[in-house]
Amino acid sequence: MIGMIRRILGVSGKYRGRIYGAMGCSFLKGLLMKVPIILTYFIVTTYIDGTLTKKTALYGAFALAASIIVQAIFQYLADRLQSGAGYLIFADMRMKLGEHLRRLPMGYFTEGNIGKISSVLSTDMVFIEENCMMVLADMMSYLFSQAIMIIFMFVFDWRLGIVSLLITGCMVLLGRGMMKNDLVHSDEKQEAAEIQTQAVLDFTEGIGIIKTYNLLGDKSKELTDSFDTNCRVNLDFEFSHHPYKRGVFLIYGIGTVVMLALSAFLYTKGYMERQYFFGMLLCLFDLFVPIKSFYDQEARLTVMSACMDRIEALFAEKELDDSGTQQLSETNAPEIEYRNVTFAYDKNDILKNVSFKADKGTMTALVGPSGGGKSTIASLLTRFWDVKSGEILLRGTDIRKIPLTTLMDNISMVFQRVYLFQDTVYHNIALGRPDASREEVIEAAKKARCYDFIMELPDGFDTVIGEGGASLSGGQVQRLSIARCILKDSPIVILDEATASVDADNESYIQQAISELCKGKTLLVIAHRLNTITHADNIMVIKDGQIAESGDHEKLMRQDGIYHSMVTKRAVSTGWKN
Ligand SMILES: Nc1ncnc2c1ncn2[C@@H]1O[C@H](COP(=O)(O)OP(=O)(O)OP(=O)(O)O)[C@@H](O)[C@H]1O
Ligand SMILES: [Mg+2]
Repeated sequence: MIGMIRRILGVSGKYRGRIYGAMGCSFLKGLLMKVPIILTYFIVTTYIDGTLTKKTALYGAFALAASIIVQAIFQYLADRLQSGAGYLIFADMRMKLGEHLRRLPMGYFTEGNIGKISSVLSTDMVFIEENCMMVLADMMSYLFSQAIMIIFMFVFDWRLGIVSLLITGCMVLLGRGMMKNDLVHSDEKQEAAEIQTQAVLDFTEGIGIIKTYNLLGDKSKELTDSFDTNCRVNLDFEFSHHPYKRGVFLIYGIGTVVMLALSAFLYTKGYMERQYFFGMLLCLFDLFVPIKSFYDQEARLTVMSACMDRIEALFAEKELDDSGTQQLSETNAPEIEYRNVTFAYDKNDILKNVSFKADKGTMTALVGPSGGGKSTIASLLTRFWDVKSGEILLRGTDIRKIPLTTLMDNISMVFQRVYLFQDTVYHNIALGRPDASREEVIEAAKKARCYDFIMELPDGFDTVIGEGGASLSGGQVQRLSIARCILKDSPIVILDEATASVDADNESYIQQAISELCKGKTLLVIAHRLNTITHADNIMVIKDGQIAESGDHEKLMRQDGIYHSMVTKRAVSTGWKN
């Protein structure tokens, strides 16, 4: 509990004052809740003594009414401060998380962590902001109230004080067991929720493939299995939680009876005065209510703790180092240079000692067998991942020493798998340079051979396209992404298999769009269609993570190597058409 409060305070930043304020209000409300008992005790005892006057009874009534009104005010203030704090803290935290995710290496997103991110954002944070701020302050007020009740018992009779302390102790012991049990199950619960989210995302994203390959049965099974597991884990949680909860309830009931019997015994034996016995009776049914209420809410506290664990784990993911401050200046150094670059996604080295240079305005082509490491070489230039050893230089400066934003300003990428956002065509292109004018966006669309098909869409540039570009053809999506890059107008362009798997018409449009994009740029082209790169300044054959051959087309054709055999094989089978 205290740990949890500390964690919340740790993330509360500038809203810490609100939380302290809420706790203060809850504490005062807790104190005021005891006023009716004290007043009733006072009035009844004076009545029994025969000293009660009309005036004191009236004052008592006023004090009671006032305490109820002030209590309501404190409750209102506590609620406002708490719930407000929850939403404000997590609004800031979501922004921070967005910033953090932006700085994580791409590897984090490709390793099946999307479900984790979604459930942290949509389940964990929502749970804490909606429930737990309130719960936390209420639980504090329960603890204060319980302490006050025990103090009352000591005032009535020291033996009552000790026994009530012992009974509360038993409830706390059982409650701690319940917390431990719940913590274990909370982790399982959250994990199952995460797997379920991932399964739903997989199913909806892959629905096209699932239908074409008739995988509805298999994939539905995966999905229903995740639902079943989630259901089972939640039931397990409830089943293991309830014995503890019933136990706490039982001690509460038995404890109340014991306290009644003990006070009756003390009173009848003359160890306790009448007004104290009466006071005891007044407190009896409230005596262990605070600690019982505390453990009624406890399950939420443990879920909250598990949520915090997962939020903190996401924040603890190591960001790409972006401490570089060097700016690029014009030099005679090559535009791009790889020096002895070795890289591994996990244990095995995928690239081994790759070194090459590309001068400004030249075209470097990467060819070679599938899985050789071409895309990997390209993605290291954008720092989707960082090299294991060696260095990559941009105009003579190690890319790790350049701020990421500067690096990205210098590079555009056209990938085979293009992602378009569920937004207007206009905004999807304007992403390339958000401050571009409408004319510039339209000009870029014309250069990328998109203009005609955009004008045929129902609302032209203002047509909203489906998520991932779902409502456009593959070639159209590709051309839109090229328009984005043309607008960005960065000096380096990476093209990865940009012309694979589209029909001939589209391919010729794409080729025209690419030629527009590439004018005057330094190009790194990953090509499966060798006819598009014969004029490249440097062609590198990448095999098993190494540069097996390099040189221009003529030089490589003179060697009887991999490139020569790739070209002749393709020429024979396709007559250079493909
Ligand atoms: N995100 C990743 N995590 C782990 N391994 C990866 C990842 N991406 C690629 N690999 C592995 O790295 C190796 C090189 O992959 P890469 O995508 O660079 O090859 P490629 O030459 O571009 O192949 P292709 O011509 O098929 O596109 C392959 O063995 C691949 O399995
Ligand atoms: Mg590739």
